Amino acid sequence: MRYFETDTYYHMSRMAANIISAQIITKPDCVLGLATGSTPIGIYKQLIEWYKKGDLDFSDAASINLDEYLGLDGTNDQSYRYFMNKNLFDRVNINKENTNVPDGKAENAESFCRKYEDKIDELGGADVQILGIGRNGHIGFNEPDSVLVPTTHLTSLTESTVEANARFFASEADVPRHAITMGMRSIFKAKKIIVLANGESKADAVKAMLEGISTKCPASLLCLHPNVVLICDKAAYSKV
Ligand code: PGA
Repeated sequence: MRYFETDTYYHMSRMAANIISAQIITKPDCVLGLATGSTPIGIYKQLIEWYKKGDLDFSDAASINLDEYLGLDGTNDQSYRYFMNKNLFDRVNINKENTNVPDGKAENAESFCRKYEDKIDELGGADVQILGIGRNGHIGFNEPDSVLVPTTHLTSLTESTVEANARFFASEADVPRHAITMGMRSIFKAKKIIVLANGESKADAVKAMLEGISTKCPASLLCLHPNVVLICDKAAYSKV
């Protein structure tokens, strides 16, 4: 794993956007592994800016997203499909048919999960996968536990995640308690992984991630992947 500490969130986002943009330029039909939440917003802003300047072309690219809340459809403004459309897909020339976000309204979630995993395999995994890290060390919705489900699956959110995500909802009671998420093995199918963390609230998770490998900190498993870049701002790196 390679580590980079940047002065600010802006610099963290720009460094990650540079890696992604190099990927798109060198392999226009690449598969982008994408994430939601506050962390990647700066990357998406930067990519949109370069697209508008004519430096990036997404027309041959495909994408796979990490997760989605169970019970929310893509028109719900709290869904991750809605987030992706608003923060990236509607603002660049990616073909939406080539974008994949788990379906929170799938009639049979378990069978949907198997199909989603097949889709990841069909695409050959992500060429480059962006990951935020939860305050509790989760990746996607792979929450700390004694056992982790390796492939795409249905999962329950921990109280810590519900609390952290409540800021996006009218109240904590509105946060869905279940989600569909890629598993750690699905994520490991990526050829390159960029893990991002900013702010003091992520400092403990970054420390735990680098301290030793444990399913109690799913992010720590990333130390086993051969091509991971960790980019943190100063605050997130302050306890290492
Ligand atoms: P955040 O969430 O980017 O909104 O901090 C990251 C995560 O929980 O995985």
